[in-house]
Amino acid sequence: MCGIVAYLGQKRALPILLEGLKRLEYRGYDSAGVSLYKDGEVLTSKTKGRISELEKLTSKNKTDATMGIGHTRWATHGKPNEINSHPHTDFSNKITLVHNGIIENYTTLKKWLVSKGVEFKSDTDSEVIVNLIGYLYSGYDSDCEIPDTQDKFEWAVQRALNKLIGSYGLAIICSDYPDSIICARKGSPLILGVGDNEYIIASDASAIVEHTKQAIYLSDNEMAIINRDGFKTLTIDNIEITKDLKDIEFSLEEIELSSYDHYMLKEIFEQPEALERCFGGRVQLGESKIVLGGITDMARKLTRAKKIIITGCGTAWHAGLIGEYMLEQLARIPTEVEYASEFRYRNPIIEDGTVVIAVSQSGETADTLAAIEMAKERGAIVLGLVNVVGSTISRMTDAGIYLRVGPEIGVASTKAFTAQVAVLAMLAIELGRRRHLSNLEAASLLKELDSIPDKTRSILKQSEHIKTIAEENYEQNNWLFMGRGFNYPTALEGALKLKEISYIHAEGLAAAEMKHGPIALITNGTPAVFIATLGSHYEKIISNIEEVRARGGKTIVIATEGDENIKAFADHLISIPDVPDSLQPLLAVVPLQLLAYHSALLRGLDVDKPRNLAKSVTVE
Ligand code: F6R
Repeated sequence: MCGIVAYLGQKRALPILLEGLKRLEYRGYDSAGVSLYKDGEVLTSKTKGRISELEKLTSKNKTDATMGIGHTRWATHGKPNEINSHPHTDFSNKITLVHNGIIENYTTLKKWLVSKGVEFKSDTDSEVIVNLIGYLYSGYDSDCEIPDTQDKFEWAVQRALNKLIGSYGLAIICSDYPDSIICARKGSPLILGVGDNEYIIASDASAIVEHTKQAIYLSDNEMAIINRDGFKTLTIDNIEITKDLKDIEFSLEEIELSSYDHYMLKEIFEQPEALERCFGGRVQLGESKIVLGGITDMARKLTRAKKIIITGCGTAWHAGLIGEYMLEQLARIPTEVEYASEFRYRNPIIEDGTVVIAVSQSGETADTLAAIEMAKERGAIVLGLVNVVGSTISRMTDAGIYLRVGPEIGVASTKAFTAQVAVLAMLAIELGRRRHLSNLEAASLLKELDSIPDKTRSILKQSEHIKTIAEENYEQNNWLFMGRGFNYPTALEGALKLKEISYIHAEGLAAAEMKHGPIALITNGTPAVFIATLGSHYEKIISNIEEVRARGGKTIVIATEGDENIKAFADHLISIPDVPDSLQPLLAVVPLQLLAYHSALLRGLDVDKPRNLAKSVTVE
């Protein structure tokens, strides 16, 4: 949520900042701004709306400034308008900053600053930070002397940061320091790209990779002070630290749209290759085993786990729910799934032998981070299933398995979901193999797993057919999605996809629950999407379909290829290849992603940037 970018180098900063902000726009897109430093002056342009609005606003700006900071906002405190958008400048007009995160003690600090005569312009928590730094920088805090070894800007920033409670990724400039940017992080991601005589700081690597592939990932309570002749890294308590330069592991092509109209469609269509990468070297058909390098050291502990708790948010939680079914069925390990936002505030029972698995695409979700911290404090071993390499979750967990699907930019998660399910499937099969599954059963599941990418390819060929189904139903404002067993979470995911990008109200249900209440929602023409694939719940779900049809609902049925019987129950039929129950969500979700995509497009909506949402939810 919110993206920040900063540049210090030899080139014109403005186009670099705008390009960087476009790459980060998925993190928030309700307002945007830039500040450029030139000859002792800081020139700020900001506007409500998307980066395209900021581009228009700055189109006549020909400044050759080579230093600046930028921000794309997802509003937390204060409406999206020009005043609340970043960058913010302090009351003395010297300090300017961009901020990603939430300052929890901002009301106390604001009151204090106001009592000292500081005037505020915006409703944001971020303005408190800039005014606090400005207040300290201006020398008002007379009870504390600036040490000889430190300059005033650095000192004021450090002192202010030590007074903040909450989360921040910050890039700060000071009009008295022509060639200096200070950046700092706590709880919100921040990366320092180190190029040839240039530095680019950003909330994530997508804004950096065009300029350099070498980066420093700041950890919590760390800051970097960047000048034209180099940079230093230190803690916010002024202890110098050495950080390793790391390679950014994806290429520019991976974050470009190429021939697709939208990132969501691109990412849906990338799923076969993404899953091949996810399985590559891990699914070893010859030896009928799965090798998950990231967890070799804890394999014994996992195999002997007495309980597994899976935690995550949104789509990642849905993947976790499928993981629960898989781990219990295939590995026979008692498993629970918890929303990270609930888990962190409960008093869960974590005993010796409890393993917590955190699932996250971004690796930065605030609630998931907090859940991991809590689990670790209570002595659990924590395993991370993360996509973004080097993200906070990947660094704070005891061990991890990367999803390996490359950058996911569309706000609605698609390929990350299938990879999360795929990794949980690999884990469940391998733990099952070590515990009680016969070699034959494990070998057969591995073969099935290996067939998933090709089977996904065959489903994608039905995109046009799925579009015709969307054309007949997109104007309906209430949809139900139903499945049973492993496909109950798939139904939840299908409903979430539809509602988040098409703004249609949709509910996902365990199909048998329908008659305990939601059946009241069914009227003539209500689209009811059923996952009715062959398997252990087939007969039961046919009865549920009948119940909907009897009440005038329109059935969109995901069924198994070759199932002739189902045709009589479906107003619209989408066929998917046959796989065992436990792997069905990997295939069944794909038509649901396409159905949501086409419906949203037909409603004329921006599928990659749905209203009110942001890709990585770094605030509570
Ligand atoms: C929905 C979606 C969200 C995320 C959730 C967790 O399409 O993308 O529900 O799944 O915000 O995000 P991560 O996986 O980054 O922790």
